[in-house]
Amino acid sequence: MADHEFRCIRYEIRDETAWITVNRPEKLNALDRRTMEELGRAADEAAADPGVRVVVVTGAGEKAFVAGADIREMSTLDAREGEAFARFLQDTLDRLERLGKPVVAAVNGYALGGGCELAMACHVRIAADTARFGQPEVNLGLIPGAGGTQRLQRIVGRGRALDLILSGETIDAAEAHRIGLVNRVVPAADLQRTVEAFAALLRAKSPTAQARALEAILSGGEVAQPEAMRTEAAMFGLCFATADMREGTAAFLEKRKAAFPGK
Ligand code: CAA
Repeated sequence: MADHEFRCIRYEIRDETAWITVNRPEKLNALDRRTMEELGRAADEAAADPGVRVVVVTGAGEKAFVAGADIREMSTLDAREGEAFARFLQDTLDRLERLGKPVVAAVNGYALGGGCELAMACHVRIAADTARFGQPEVNLGLIPGAGGTQRLQRIVGRGRALDLILSGETIDAAEAHRIGLVNRVVPAADLQRTVEAFAALLRAKSPTAQARALEAILSGGEVAQPEAMRTEAAMFGLCFATADMREGTAAFLEKRKAAFPGK
C-alpha cells in the first residue's frame, strides 16, 4: 500500500523496517477514528508484507508520541457508542500487537491515555528522555479504553497500574524506566539512531523464532500456566521444522554467524 493512501499516518519501509508515524502533530497526534483505521490498515499491511521484518511506531513532531484518543471526537459519544469505540480501539491495538513480527515503540514525547496504550501494545518501548507517560483519563471522567486497564498491570504490576490510573498523574521517562514501563531511555537526539540500531539487531535474528516467541508469550499470558506451557512446547516443536533452526544450530556448531533464510 503506497504512503499516499494514508492521511493521518505515514507508512514508510526502510531497511525491511516499516515505520508507522502518527501524523497529526497540530493535535499532538491524538488518535481519532480515521487515524486508528489507518493504524489498523498499516498493521495488517506490515503483517502481510514479507519484505517487512520489524515495525516501528512513532509520532510526528518533537512534542508528542500520541497525546491520547481524540477528546473532541469522544466528547459527544453516548454509552453505547463509547463501548463500541473502545472495542474498535482494542481490536486495532490487538492487530498491532499480534502482527507476528517485533513491534517497537519509539516514544518521542507525550504518551498519554490512548498514546500510552498504543506504546504498550508494542513489544518493546524505547523512549526519549523528554517523553512523559500516563493514563490521565480520570481527569476527563473516563477510564483507559484501549486496553490500558489490562496491559498496564501486566507490564508494571497491579499496584503501580492502580496508582497511575486512579490518580491520572503523569510520569517522566526516567520514572517510566524505573517501573519497567519502558525498556530504554535515551537522549531525545539519539532516539532515531537507537531505534534504527535496535531494529537492525532484531532483523539479524530468526524471524520464524521471533514469531513463535511472540505467539507463546502473548497467548500464554492470557491462559492458565499448564495450557501456556503446552503452547510453549508446541511453538518450540514448530521451530524444529524450520530452515532457520537448522541454520542457527549449524552456524553455532561451525563457529560462524547465522544467515537466517526466514523460513
Ligand atoms: N485529543 C484531542 N486534541 C488534543 C489532545 C487529545 N487527546 N491532546 C492535545 N490535543 C490538542 C489540543 O486541544 C490543542 O489543539 P488546539 O491547538 O486546536 O487547541 C493541541 O493539541 C495542542 O495541545 P495543547 O495546547 O493542550 O498543548 P500543551 O503543550 O499545552 O499540553 C498536553 C500538552 C499536556 C499533552 C495536553 O495537550 C493534554 O493534556 N492533552 C490531553 C491528554 C489526555 O487527557 N489524554 C487522554 C485522552 S482520553 C483517552 O486516551 C481515552 C482512552 O484511553 C482511549
